[in-house]
Amino acid sequence: MSRIKTAIYPGSFDPVTSGHYDIIVRASRLFERLIVAVAPNPSKQPLFTVEERMAILQEVCASLPNVQVECFEGLLVDFAMKRGAQVIVKGLRAVSDFDHELQMALTNRRLCPQIETIFMMTNSEYVFLSSSMVKEIARLGGSVQGLVPKAVEPYLYRKLGKSLPNKEDNRG
Ligand code: PNS
Repeated sequence: MSRIKTAIYPGSFDPVTSGHYDIIVRASRLFERLIVAVAPNPSKQPLFTVEERMAILQEVCASLPNVQVECFEGLLVDFAMKRGAQVIVKGLRAVSDFDHELQMALTNRRLCPQIETIFMMTNSEYVFLSSSMVKEIARLGGSVQGLVPKAVEPYLYRKLGKSLPNKEDNRG
């Protein structure tokens, strides 16, 4: 079976969660090359800088040889065209994601009809999960074990000026 050459998985990744990582792993099996593309999204007042988010993703994706991490500014379809990508990959968690994702997919198709957006359903255990939720739990001193890839935890607590919660204290 010949695989589509290049796909882009865009997002803020502030920080990358286990839900994102699950999509990255599954998408990396479908495409020859997967570019994880970090958008600055300053309107969301990110916790991590773009450089930090990329460094975390690079560490998390180190064992996936066909995954590369980049950042982009401006229109996603322009970046996709520059990289020769044929597909944009998006993760869908629940019905609540659908309206906004449909709007973005149709806008991107209008801007650039040759690029196809495909949706991958999030693993059921991560349906509730978001980067904002993870940041709130960590900010309030809770454990994010299992909610983010292991490598993310020290970055998160350090950035928030918190110590890593003890294993015995884990409630989630
Ligand atoms: O992880 P997020 O914050 O939901 O990701 C949103 C993202 C980065 C995929 C979206 O904001 C985006 O595509 N930004 C690029 C700007 C753009 O192309 N806008 C027009 C089409 S919607």
